[in-house]
Amino acid sequence: MSEKPKKDDVQSKMMSMEAGEYYWCACGNSSTQPFCDGSHKGTSKEPCAVTFEKKQEVMWCMCKRTKTPPICDKGCKE
Ligand code: FES
Repeated sequence: MSEKPKKDDVQSKMMSMEAGEYYWCACGNSSTQPFCDGSHKGTSKEPCAVTFEKKQEVMWCMCKRTKTPPICDKGCKE
């Protein structure tokens, strides 16, 4: 199991999200990107919980290198 976040995809992913709580995968191992599926077990990574109060567009980080998790900071473009 990878200890370092791996680049799942270099492209961020824009999604229309309903209000609610979500768990963003920080380790890159999830098969349900950009969300945690529990595959971080055995690594030092934990998912990042985020709550949206209303429906909104979200630019999820997919490369796992954002400094503003779980939102893309365009670090994948560097
Ligand atoms: S599967 Fe990656 S943080 Fe849970």
